[in-house]
Amino acid sequence: MSEPAPRKRLYIKTYGCQMNVYDSERMADVLAPLGYGVTDSPEDADLVVLNTCHIREKATEKVYSELGQIRRMKAARAEAGADMTIAVAGCVAQAEGEEIMRRQPAVDLVVGPQAYHQLPELIARAHRARGERLAADFAPEEKFDALTVARRPTGVTAFLTVQEGCDKFCTFCVVPYTRGGEWSRPAEAIEAEARALADKGVREVTLLGQNVNAYDGEGGLAALVRRLATIPGLDRIRYTTSHPRDMDDALIAAHAEVEALMPYLHLPVQAGSDKVLKAMNRAHTAESYVRLIEKIRAARPDIAISGDFIVGFPGERDADFEATLQIVREVGYASAFSFKYSRRPGTPAAAMPGQVAEPVKEERLARLQALLDEQQRAFNDAQIGRTLPVLFEKAGRHAGQLVGRSPHLQAVHVSAPERMLGRIVPVRIEGAARNSLAGALELETV
Ligand code: SAH
Ligand code: SF4
Ligand code: F3S
Repeated sequence: MSEPAPRKRLYIKTYGCQMNVYDSERMADVLAPLGYGVTDSPEDADLVVLNTCHIREKATEKVYSELGQIRRMKAARAEAGADMTIAVAGCVAQAEGEEIMRRQPAVDLVVGPQAYHQLPELIARAHRARGERLAADFAPEEKFDALTVARRPTGVTAFLTVQEGCDKFCTFCVVPYTRGGEWSRPAEAIEAEARALADKGVREVTLLGQNVNAYDGEGGLAALVRRLATIPGLDRIRYTTSHPRDMDDALIAAHAEVEALMPYLHLPVQAGSDKVLKAMNRAHTAESYVRLIEKIRAARPDIAISGDFIVGFPGERDADFEATLQIVREVGYASAFSFKYSRRPGTPAAAMPGQVAEPVKEERLARLQALLDEQQRAFNDAQIGRTLPVLFEKAGRHAGQLVGRSPHLQAVHVSAPERMLGRIVPVRIEGAARNSLAGALELETV
């Protein structure tokens, strides 16, 4: 394909979830034919895109403070006689489009997650200083048709969005409002994208969706995984994030039967008290979640379980929080994310009585994280002495070192030659820290 050498510089900063990472890459792809090449420094960028996250108050506020800095860079460039276009994308754009333009007039355009294919046009309009500054309709199908044509992967592992949006309406969460309803891409389009990635050297795909296991193509996510597992060269398949409600028997069976499906599952429970789970509208109980984990472990005994937790949801008493610690002890997590409840305007929980005081949230979060850290450490320690297949992804920080991933998604540091990048190689695990493992190549591999 003939394409102009980059004449203009594009700086993209990505906040939030992997879906945003995927979208940022697609935005760069769609802008490349217009002459935009990606740069790491915003100061000399012709176009700055902030791909934002609305999930917690802190995430949203970060965007406004970043915009303040970018505005100063734009002013400095203007003094030097150069232009800078500022675009705000992502979930804050969807939720607070008008507000962004009011709070930060230096913003040239605001574009919601389903409108990225319109970026070239929006930028052209912004340059003419007229017309639409805000595009935020929900039309996921158009988005994917337009964005996934000329994908250029940058490594051996890649994200692939298969589902977007959420119909679950957990009472604390903004996602159903920022990403719209659940929508699944056709399996053919996903397979075509996966094949193209594999042709370009990608060995592992992570299927993405706000509720990826609600994927509703024929046969659900299980059938999709089995279909992708037949693609030559695609040796590893992962998916995230899942909802316990959509974890069906077919998907559990796939974990037992599909070799390429990695033994790792991010399955958020959020809390351990049934009273809190009900108020959260999670549609599972502590007990049903624990039974589900047992069933999954029966199918795939070595699976690593990861989760998300919220402490200090409205009405959470000490006893409720103890129930969260209890479910963590019962399940045993390999890794987890945990957050203080953040009150999001417009969500049902924001108006609930019994909002929990900040110091209480902090204390609970510290206790929960201490327990989760301990479990993560124990999970990593348990790998010492084992030999694991590691997919080498990139050079390590030290010379002669590569970093890869174990089947359980742990980072593994190994002394290995560069030619092993992109290969899956047996590694003897010799050391463990909280966030990574260290290992050595088996002698016969060297
Ligand atoms: N779809 C996924 C998660 C999406 S958001 C799921 O259902 O699991 C990622 C995580 O952010 C959530 O799992 C939750 O733990 C956290 N989160 C969402 N809204 C929050 C809020 N208002 N305050 C604190 N944490 C929140
Ligand atoms: Fe948010 Fe719940 Fe939907 Fe996850 S399932 S995105 S937490 S509303
Ligand atoms: Fe954030 Fe939107 Fe993802 S709110 S977590 S970027 S779906």
